[in-house]
Amino acid sequence: MAQQIQIDQPRLTSELATLATFTDAEPVSNGTPVTRIVFSPDDLRARAWLKELATADGFEVRDDAVGNIFIRWTGTDPDAPAVATGSHTDAIPHAGMYDGTVGVLGGLEAMRTLKRSGLQPRRSIELVMFTSEEPTRFGIGCLGSRLMSGTLDPKQADALHEANEPADTAKTLAQVRTAAGFTGDLASVKLSPNHYHAWLELHIEQGPLLEREGTPIGIVTSIAAPAGYRFTISGLGGHAGALLMPDRKDALCAAAELILAIEKHALATHVIDTVATVGTCDVHPGAVNSVPSRVVLQLDIRDTDPTRRESVMQAIRRDIETLRQRRGVIITEQIINADAPAQSSPHLVELLEEVCATDGISPRKMVSRAYHDSLFMARIAPIAMIFIPCRNGVSHRPDEYATPAHTTLGVQVLASALAKLASE
Ligand code: GLV
Ligand code: MN
Ligand code: MN
Repeated sequence: MAQQIQIDQPRLTSELATLATFTDAEPVSNGTPVTRIVFSPDDLRARAWLKELATADGFEVRDDAVGNIFIRWTGTDPDAPAVATGSHTDAIPHAGMYDGTVGVLGGLEAMRTLKRSGLQPRRSIELVMFTSEEPTRFGIGCLGSRLMSGTLDPKQADALHEANEPADTAKTLAQVRTAAGFTGDLASVKLSPNHYHAWLELHIEQGPLLEREGTPIGIVTSIAAPAGYRFTISGLGGHAGALLMPDRKDALCAAAELILAIEKHALATHVIDTVATVGTCDVHPGAVNSVPSRVVLQLDIRDTDPTRRESVMQAIRRDIETLRQRRGVIITEQIINADAPAQSSPHLVELLEEVCATDGISPRKMVSRAYHDSLFMARIAPIAMIFIPCRNGVSHRPDEYATPAHTTLGVQVLASALAKLASE
């Protein structure tokens, strides 16, 4: 296949650069910062641009009630379950230009390349651009694929509020998606378990292993299990000069201890697969001369083993109990999500290994520690992922970078695999 298919590397490189111009972030000197929050003007512009590209190539385009975009190349057997690929184009604040986008524009390029090669697929080949893989706006990641796989109740989804807005002004997903033009019933987003014959996602590794080993392709065999929690710490506010130190119940000091307890317990597993991050911390009232009365923290905790993840949570909860008593604060915990890990389909892993062997590539089988929409697609379809290296393993930063050669190779493997799957 490698000899027959010729990926248009300059076009892919240039389209990745164009997509990166749809950004809310100010330029920086050390990279290309991309902030593209779901349903923001830049996200809507990026969606319109992607649809134009797909239409220009003669693919059918539709979107569903939550804004997932489907770009379809209809096969000679249109009723056979399609082979699908895709990823996301939303980006967290000050992220880079490759996370998700390589899987979307790379997927499009794979389809165009196969079309140009004269292939007439038996199964349809479909590219999906998922809504809100990133949790920035509504506090929970993979909104589109959770709904597609029936993992998230449609009513609960519509009632989700913007996570980073004050409670009295935060809009719901229902309000925001309606304003963006997506008005259908969210229940209609769900797909049946045999809707897709197979699902593949191409993505940058977001870690250092491929680059360190000099291996150009990773084949993901499993995806680690993510969970998210929100902790609200309520203490006693007051005047920063007049409230005496012995009388204080400083919510931020308690939060600081909690953050360190989280780090301590994640490290205490001595397993590289346990990771825990507190990435947001809202301090109320947030004035330099006011003792913090309330703090809201968001914890992102992941593990390949959900039982170990839960035992870290139990250890954290024990520390919270002593913290509460010692500091006289109230700490409440709200679970956002606690997801199971996903396993790739052995058949798809084998098929990707075969494609790599034909192309003279020695891939590395690996775990994905980042989550992806594939985590949820695994609930309704056989899945696997293709990873390519990224410079210094950096992701979610403006200096995130993947070479055109690696990106092109990833697309080549993807295209070959899609072609094989479409004929199954
Ligand atoms: C996805 O962006 C993740 O946080 O793993
Ligand atoms: Mn990401
Ligand atoms: Mn991603």
